[in-house]
Amino acid sequence: MTKELTTLTPLAEDVFKGLQAESKHLPSKYFYDARGDELFQQIMHLDEYYLTRKELEIFQTHKEGILKAINSDEPFRIIELGAGDGLKTKVLLKHFMEAQVDFTYTPVDISGNVLEILEGNLKAEIPGLKIESYEGDYFDALAEIAESPETDIVFFLGSNVGNFSEAEAVDFLTKLQHFLKPSDLLFMGVDLKKDPSIILNAYNDNQGVTREFNLNLLDRINTELDANFDRNQFLHYPYYNPHTGECRSYLISKIEQVVSIMEQEVHFSAWEAIFMEISKKYDRRQLDKLAAASGFTSKQTFLDSDGWFADVVWQKEK
Ligand code: AVJ
Repeated sequence: MTKELTTLTPLAEDVFKGLQAESKHLPSKYFYDARGDELFQQIMHLDEYYLTRKELEIFQTHKEGILKAINSDEPFRIIELGAGDGLKTKVLLKHFMEAQVDFTYTPVDISGNVLEILEGNLKAEIPGLKIESYEGDYFDALAEIAESPETDIVFFLGSNVGNFSEAEAVDFLTKLQHFLKPSDLLFMGVDLKKDPSIILNAYNDNQGVTREFNLNLLDRINTELDANFDRNQFLHYPYYNPHTGECRSYLISKIEQVVSIMEQEVHFSAWEAIFMEISKKYDRRQLDKLAAASGFTSKQTFLDSDGWFADVVWQKEK
């Protein structure tokens, strides 16, 4: 199959590119349609999915230390990339307000809908909070940062950086770093290496919510790209490599089959895999390497009581 790529929507273009490749893959950023958002909310409440709880614990335990690490005595802005429901960030915002710090909160998201809900919630729960949402691309928001005279603290939480391979993470963070002013900081949540079975279970939960989260992308392609994936003919297979720290999720074709997408045929051999998502885990040494490779130096690191998750404060290398 050869599909003319130029006239397609971004989803269609990426789906064809990924499924025409020698090793098939689909970008995990497309997990998050309305159903995907709902499933991710469920994932964050799963017993097995420790990441959210651990980062929340860090914020509750270390909110004073975090404020000390980022406060510059001057008014500043918090720019949060991919704010989501703001459940965890709220703990910090509340504390900063109580400490009478002068700051503006700017959540950045491509979904205006997400931002509207978040803004409504935060205004109700934290009276007096200055909130200025930014609807758009991360890098459009960051480009604006570079122009502003204010000190900006960029929040990139929840181990979202784990969705990049190490090379992609260096790329992304280097770009981000170039947009920062010398007084700006990055505050980033990173999931750490630990007992491999704990990590694997987080992406292979008992109730099958994570399986559903992956299969939902096939449903989305069926609906939005007029395709006919049969989700029952695909197996969800996550696997963790303790050496690289990469947890990778695959959907594997149980049979030889042909799937039609916008009238194009995609062939699957029996047991051929589609690589769906990477959730990379770091150790302290890899984190130091990542900082150095992307032009940052580490100012401070906050850990939960088990040492499973880290929130790092990084500054531009001088
Ligand atoms: C939102 C990217 C941090 O990789 O842990 C959860 C997404 N995927 N379960 C992660 C996810 C499967 C999550 N991040």
